Amino acid sequence: MKIDGVAWRPIWAAEDGESVEIIDQTTLPFAFGTKRLTTMAEAAEAISVMRVRGAPLIGVTAAYGLAMALRDDPSDAAMMAAYGTLHATRPTAINLRWALDRISAAMADTAPEDRFTAAYALAGVMADEDVEINRRIGAHGLTLLREAAGQGGRVNVLTHCNAGWLATVDWGTATSPIYQAYDEGIDVHVWVDETRPRNQGAFLTAWELHQHGVSHSIITDNAGGHLMQHGEVDLCLVGTDRVTATGDVCNKIGTYLKALAAHDNDVPFYVCLPTPTIDWRVRDGIAEIPIENRSPDEVLCVDGVLSSGEIVRSRIASPGSNAANPAFDVTPARLVSGLITEQGIVDASEAGLAVLNRM
Ligand code: MRU
Repeated sequence: MKIDGVAWRPIWAAEDGESVEIIDQTTLPFAFGTKRLTTMAEAAEAISVMRVRGAPLIGVTAAYGLAMALRDDPSDAAMMAAYGTLHATRPTAINLRWALDRISAAMADTAPEDRFTAAYALAGVMADEDVEINRRIGAHGLTLLREAAGQGGRVNVLTHCNAGWLATVDWGTATSPIYQAYDEGIDVHVWVDETRPRNQGAFLTAWELHQHGVSHSIITDNAGGHLMQHGEVDLCLVGTDRVTATGDVCNKIGTYLKALAAHDNDVPFYVCLPTPTIDWRVRDGIAEIPIENRSPDEVLCVDGVLSSGEIVRSRIASPGSNAANPAFDVTPARLVSGLITEQGIVDASEAGLAVLNRM
């Protein structure tokens, strides 16, 4: 996707052929900056503090991180240690484990002296695959937006968090149908949940949509139900960090409440995902998916920008109070209208998922 008319990805192989460059998402939308990650430890830090975030992008970053660990020590022991460090950075997005498993499995038949080159190349392949997967998710989702638009009408989509191109290698998952609808001339407008506490909607999704020219309005996280009651939302499109084998959907905290409101108002609620986001080993999302608890500071404080351009963190809660910060929740499959994958749109159920080829 483009920033000021120039095509960018949020991650790319560095010119030195042994490290990786990222867009640093911690300062967006107030300041745009890139950062070179030169070691596995730097890749792990970037995932932990959310310089990169979003399930598919976390996976690709971890793949490059494991490759850089093998550059510095190609032994099995070093690979296992790096796997453990990277895997511990964020517990909820299954794409992280999927990516680490894919690199590790490829190393089993690779001589130690060839491991770095092979792993680094495979991380690049995984990045390119993600772009194509998301393009296809968009093509399938576009059919729903075309239907909703009918004969030239406006389509109002509500989305939560950032499942945009910044969360993937390109296109995004939930935003891919939106970008493709916009490019096709459909009059699409997006309600962007601000997505407290980290404001991925107000900061990242809004910034992306603005760069592409897509009409959008930032709303508070509590506004969606009201808009649905008044017929202002045609469909919801969200991303996910993990889908169970039975179709439960884990995504950014607050997704569940939006699905409840959509269900109560007969608004279709679709989840966009690449098939590596399916955790075939897990059946009951509420009982089995580990939910990341992040720092209370994310709830108690918020980043903003002064007119001087300086980015400042302000406390927005009563001094002396603490906070809890569960970062994800689980939407039961019964509240999900369908899963939009690169292989097509399927039911959020064991039978629906069974038709998919496993990656
Ligand atoms: O905590 P984040 O910003 O990594 O959470 C991201 C989300 O919840 C996304 O919806 C999900 O990872 C899908 S990204 C295509």
